[in-house]
Amino acid sequence: MTTIPQHVTIIMDGNGRWARRQGKQRLFGHKEGVESVRACLEFAVEKGIRYLSIFAFSEENWNRPQEEVSGLMELMFKSVLKERKTFQDNNVRFRVVGDLRKLSKGLLDAIHALEAETAGNTGTTLIVMLSYSGKWDIVQAAQRYADEALAAREAGREAAPLTEARFADYLSTAGIPEPDLMIRTSGEQRISNYMLWQCAYTEFYFTDVLWPDFRKKEFAAALQAFSERDRRYGKIK
Ligand code: IPE
Ligand code: IPE
Ligand code: MG
Repeated sequence: MTTIPQHVTIIMDGNGRWARRQGKQRLFGHKEGVESVRACLEFAVEKGIRYLSIFAFSEENWNRPQEEVSGLMELMFKSVLKERKTFQDNNVRFRVVGDLRKLSKGLLDAIHALEAETAGNTGTTLIVMLSYSGKWDIVQAAQRYADEALAAREAGREAAPLTEARFADYLSTAGIPEPDLMIRTSGEQRISNYMLWQCAYTEFYFTDVLWPDFRKKEFAAALQAFSERDRRYGKIK
């Protein structure tokens, strides 16, 4: 019996190396990576995983060569348009989380349209983490709390004291449960400034498989490993 996690998050890594091994351009790997996203989303739907989040583009990835950045953004745009039917057919709710001010208006409009269109879907929620980084998230949350506290004080009120739960409501992932399982492909064993706050008690699963090769079989293996973990949260069992 496998325990089904409520929220699985994936650091999809290794597209460039996968392409290089085939003697192709990096973008070829990113394109094949979209196929893995579709397979993993279908698998999440089949297994009844409530939330699947995927790290698609980090704050630091803006520093890659212009050609790669624009290739990735275009791929994102095309996928958002192309996958509408996949989402509706599978009752999937689509969301994007990150510093969206940096995206082009065309991409942003397409994202907002798909978010609105799928807002009523009640199955798996797919969250694309785009232009996201963990430190950015914590800083923007702190800034928003500070702004509200200051405004409250100026209005003669005291802001509600900060608690962990209240702080989490200012994060860009507010309302989304913390990940139970974090998968990273391509053999790297680091968090690369991903959900730093949210992964406080997440189980990590690292695999050498490159993202374009990560499909249902590999996802099932990760779930099996998760089932065998003993989550203690600092207590004694
Ligand atoms: C992951 O693959 C996708 C993104 C970070 C956008 P990479 O592009 O990092 O591939 P490698 O790590 O260079 O192989
Ligand atoms: C992490 O992968 C970001 C995404 C998967 C979107 P990177 O390839 O950017 O991470 P590093 O540079 O190896 O840490
Ligand atoms: Mg990489």
